[in-house]
Amino acid sequence: MSAPLQDKTVLVVGRGSGIARAVVEAARAAGARVVAAGRDLAALQEGYRGTDVTAKAVDLTDEDSIAALAADLGGVDHVVSTASARARGTVGELTPEAITLSFRTKVVGPIMLAKHFAPRMPADGSFVLFSGVAALEPDPGFLAVAATNGSVNTVTRSLAVELAPIRVNAISPGTIDTGAWDALGAEKKAELFGRLSAANPSRRIGTPQDVAQAVVFALTNTFMTGVSLAVDGGQPLV
Ligand SMILES: NC(=O)c1ccc[n+]([C@@H]2O[C@H](COP(=O)([O-])OP(=O)(O)OC[C@H]3O[C@@H](n4cnc5c(N)ncnc54)[C@H](OP(=O)(O)O)[C@@H]3O)[C@@H](O)[C@H]2O)c1
Repeated sequence: MSAPLQDKTVLVVGRGSGIARAVVEAARAAGARVVAAGRDLAALQEGYRGTDVTAKAVDLTDEDSIAALAADLGGVDHVVSTASARARGTVGELTPEAITLSFRTKVVGPIMLAKHFAPRMPADGSFVLFSGVAALEPDPGFLAVAATNGSVNTVTRSLAVELAPIRVNAISPGTIDTGAWDALGAEKKAELFGRLSAANPSRRIGTPQDVAQAVVFALTNTFMTGVSLAVDGGQPLV
């Protein structure tokens, strides 16, 4: 049996580590040619040195940069967007600028990816966007994160209808140890991870590989579209 993504090209937008890197590695293991694109081209080139991953520059807040990448690549089979600029903070702390940047990165950027890549993709191509558990779990300090993730869920369903038969799905991770929580400081991060691990039904924090496995599933299951697939250890259930 051939690998499920054999002869397919997958574009993965994001950083060279965390979930994006696990997705790159899982897509390669599934047989895909992979293009990794992000704002820091030098870091991506360095991170993927010695591999067959092609690194490209793109800024999801800049439509011209997305159009240029689409023209440069000339077409891909699948597009995965992991890019995010979280606007954490309580209502009193949030600024319009931070909220807007978050929406431009996680909601508008993927819509522009669809605008410029979908016309160059085959009918059996697909998009995977990134949502997150905050959309389902109102929590002080995560209002803007919840709003952007909720929008991603809605955009996913709308794009699935508009771009059909190209499929569009989202992955909604729970708490995943990718470095994204390091800004809390070691002590607060350990306290948060301990509390969440004790409470959630999976009794652990997620790994980038847990999420990447779901991305490959979304890329290869040809009867799934318009879905936001939770990979969250059951966190919103408790
Ligand atoms: N980690 C979690 O617990 C968790 C939970 C729920 C949802 N998620 C979602 O899962 C996805 C991946 O999460 P992660 O923790 O691995 O990574 P992350 O820390 O959210 O990193 C996302 C990366 O996106 C890139 N980015 C930001 N603005 C961009 C732009 N304008 N254009 C292109 N790239 C841009 C940045 O890479 P550079 O700094 O290299 O530019 C940034 O490091 C995100 O969408 C995140 O919201 C994660």
